[in-house]
Amino acid sequence: MRFRGLAALPLLAATCVGPVSGQLTQAAAGDLDRPGLELVLRSRASETTDARVARLAALYVPEGEPSSPFLEPGAFEATFRGAIELELNDSFRFAVRGNGGVRLSVGGQVVIARDALPADGAPASTASELRLNKGLNPIELVYRSPPRGDASMRLTWSNDYLPEEPVPPASLRHPGSTALDRGRSRRAARDPVAEDAVSLARVVPAEYAERRIRRDGCLVCHSRDGAPASGPPAPDAGPTHAPPDLTWAGEKFRGDWLADYLASHPADLPRPHPEVRATASPDETDLFAVGLHHQHGLAASVPEPVDAELAAVGSDLIRGDRLGCHACHALGDEPALGGEGAEEAINFDLVRRRLRRPFFDWFLRDPQRILPGTKMPQFVDEDGYTGLYDVFDGEAARQFEAIWHYLDTID
Ligand code: HEC
Ligand code: HEC
Repeated sequence: MRFRGLAALPLLAATCVGPVSGQLTQAAAGDLDRPGLELVLRSRASETTDARVARLAALYVPEGEPSSPFLEPGAFEATFRGAIELELNDSFRFAVRGNGGVRLSVGGQVVIARDALPADGAPASTASELRLNKGLNPIELVYRSPPRGDASMRLTWSNDYLPEEPVPPASLRHPGSTALDRGRSRRAARDPVAEDAVSLARVVPAEYAERRIRRDGCLVCHSRDGAPASGPPAPDAGPTHAPPDLTWAGEKFRGDWLADYLASHPADLPRPHPEVRATASPDETDLFAVGLHHQHGLAASVPEPVDAELAAVGSDLIRGDRLGCHACHALGDEPALGGEGAEEAINFDLVRRRLRRPFFDWFLRDPQRILPGTKMPQFVDEDGYTGLYDVFDGEAARQFEAIWHYLDTID
């Protein structure tokens, strides 16, 4: 089915001064003070709707599962509304990845409209960079689930200095709405039932994960989405003990690792560490982990096979006199050589059990951006080269791929 009359949709008409600039009025801007975006879900069969807050402009709904606890499974439309808040004027190229149909408006202008996203996983992008203003820039993204298969979608941005990344939750804002109020009270009324294991089949994982984050008090210790932790710092929190920011947990970790970590704390902990740490209740931690992936528009992760030839290249690259990863990172039983920050680095034998591959690539491009304050250095220049030109002509992406394969060979 095609999008009818693109212009007919209410593109934040009430909050825009004019469709050209997309600048918000002071009064309207005052209302756009809540984190995340408004997400309205509509069943295409029954026209029933439901609304909740989404942390990101992203979703993942497996085929045959409902997009909301109040809608039947099957074809649906999802409308994300709110604004991108910036501290400075800047320009970005936007892209949508996934499957299904999508129409993105920024500042009141339709900038991407596709009945179907490319089947080969390529993104639908804006033709050029769009200029956004300091302050609030209204966005609306209408998504339609594909005729078959899992429904998935993520909105990303990039520019000259910023490799493609999901539009960060810390810059998304939405106003209150009666639809959201209604969604909230429906959920409050239903919650005691949802906690009952028998009814878990009707639970939407992305929502379940959000409830758990709040119920288990994760944000007392962890910062997330630009908000600091709500509790006081742990008494003996040194750099190695500080609870890491949780914004990208749904992108970063493999679901099986996360579920295991939250349920029982695996024998191999990533960092030296004090008694204070995740205090999740051990129930349903796999649903919790899957829900975090879904919030980011990602499926549960699948393990990748190892390429022995690439692994051999990787094993050479990480040496002290090559890229030098071994200076800080232990290799299984082989301790780190002792670089600055080595005590905070994570043993390389854990990395493939913990991380999802796209996160590995993304993190290595610019560790500071993803984990502000980390001692993990940036090895890549703006053009994507490491400076070690005798391997793959210095191309960072290919060198890191080789390291990725090597990581699975460490005992
Ligand atoms: C009492 C404070 C506290 C609470 C509450 C807490 N955490 Fe943590 N968390 C920590 C500390 C400290 C660390 C770092 C030590 C470590 O790596 O185990 C940590 C580490 C983690 C890690 C590993 C991050 C990484 O990069 O290795 C994850 C994931 C995590 N917490 C998730 C959660 C979730 C989800 C909750 C809520 C269910 C939660 N935490 C509740 C203190 C806390
Ligand atoms: C100067 C010390 C240092 C060097 C050199 C270094 N790292 Fe790191 N690395 C760190 C620290 C510290 C962290 C921990 C960040 C955190 O707190 O999660 C880290 C984290 C990582 C992570 C995330 C692991 C996880 O499971 O969360 C990966 C992947 C990684 N480094 C890869 C590399 C690679 C590949 C190299 C070489 C090209 C390298 N590092 C070189 C210090 C270093």
